[in-house]
Order: sequence, then structure tokens, then C-alpha cells
Amino acid sequence: MAGRVIAIDGPAASGKSSVSRGVAAALDWLFVSSGHFYRTVAWGTVRDGVSSDDLAAWISLRQLTLLNDNKDQGTTRNISLLLDGENTTPHLSEPEVAATVSLIATVPAVRDFINARLRALAEHHDLVMEGRDIGSVVFPETPWKFYLDASPEVRARRRSSEGAIDSVSERDRLDSTRATAPLIIPNGSIVIDTTHLDLQQVIATVLSYLDPLTVTPTRSVQ
Ligand code: C5P
Repeated sequence: MAGRVIAIDGPAASGKSSVSRGVAAALDWLFVSSGHFYRTVAWGTVRDGVSSDDLAAWISLRQLTLLNDNKDQGTTRNISLLLDGENTTPHLSEPEVAATVSLIATVPAVRDFINARLRALAEHHDLVMEGRDIGSVVFPETPWKFYLDASPEVRARRRSSEGAIDSVSERDRLDSTRATAPLIIPNGSIVIDTTHLDLQQVIATVLSYLDPLTVTPTRSVQ
């Protein structure tokens, strides 16, 4: 791990993605949604009609290409994923993907495939990476770990206001109870309850913990 990594974990719709983008923009670090990697693989299994028995063999043949450094919404350094040469970005929120991703994510071969690629990113970049196991499994050695949470009501409201058809509570159940890399509060992480905070307040809270750790924002959050 040559670059620095800020790990932001938490359940679905806890605000991880928006907060991570904002923190990455403030620091001019690369934003990485590890969920996009799982959604990309889930989309591929739907595309290819892969059964769970064939998943390990199928994933070993996949080519995942990362395109980085495009500025997302003009402010955040971001990456796009190509699976076997096809850009998966337009597919990541499809209902079939949301319905299958947490099952796909229970498979160790899938997690190994993705974790190797997430770790490789830290060889060349400073990262703000969000997910379910970033502070516990992918980068347990990073000193910058955050766990975001919010009440189930607020999380359900946030997700439905995005217009997404997504069974958040079922994904949370699967993500928290699986045998491999379940969603937990990683050791040493700072827990932030975002229920009564707006986006800018959460970003500012995360950044406020970074100053003493000598990570300096390059521009203001506003
Ligand atoms: O973050 P997002 O909602 O896009 O993640 C989609 C799903 O991918 C999660 O519900 C979880 O099943 C899986 N995931 C995971 N580990 C991660 C990130 C995502 O298992 N680090």
C-alpha cells in the first residue's frame, strides 16, 4: 500500500457514497466505490446467465479494466469499470443487479477477484474507498477508518428519493450475516451517525478527523 487510504464502510444508503465523493473532492484523492465492483460482477452474471455452481470458473475468465482519472461531476476523481471491454456504468443501478449483488458478494472467489484489484489501486493512488469491508478486510492497516450509519427509516427514505428499486433491508441482512467479510464496524473506526446530519456536515466531520493525522484538504468543502 504505497498510497494513503481513507476507508468508509456502512450499510446501504447510510450516505457513504456521497460522503466519500465529497471527501475525495476536498482532498483531490481518487474516489472508489467498491460496491461498483460487486455490481459490475453481478451485472456480468446476469448478462451471461451464470449459475452459482459456475461462478468461480466464470470469474476466473473475466477481464476487468479500470479507467481512472475522469473527473466525476467536475470535482471528484473517479473510475469507470469495463467488464470484458464493456463499460458497466449504465448498468450498475439496474433492478436485476440490485437483486443479485448481495448473493454474488457472498462468494469467496468473487471477493478475492475484487479485493486484488482494489488493493492494486492503492499502489499508485491516494484513495477514498467506500464499501462494507474496506476497513476490516481490504485495508485493515489504514489508520483512517470511518463507519457511517443512519436509522433504517432515514436510509429507506434516502434510497427511495433516488428512485432506486432496491431492497435495502434484505441486502443489509445478507451483507451482515454472510460468512466471508460480513459488514461489521471495523476495529479502530470512527462511527458517525448521519441520521440528523446533512451531507456537508458529515463531510466536514470526516475531514475534521483527518487534520491531526496530517491529511490536509486541498480546497474547501463548499
Ligand atoms: O455500495 P453498494 O450498495 O453499491 O454495494 C452493493 C452490494 O455490494 C452490497 O450490498 C454488498 O452486497 C456488496 N459489497 C460488498 N463489499 C463491499 C462493497 C459492496 O459485499 N466492500
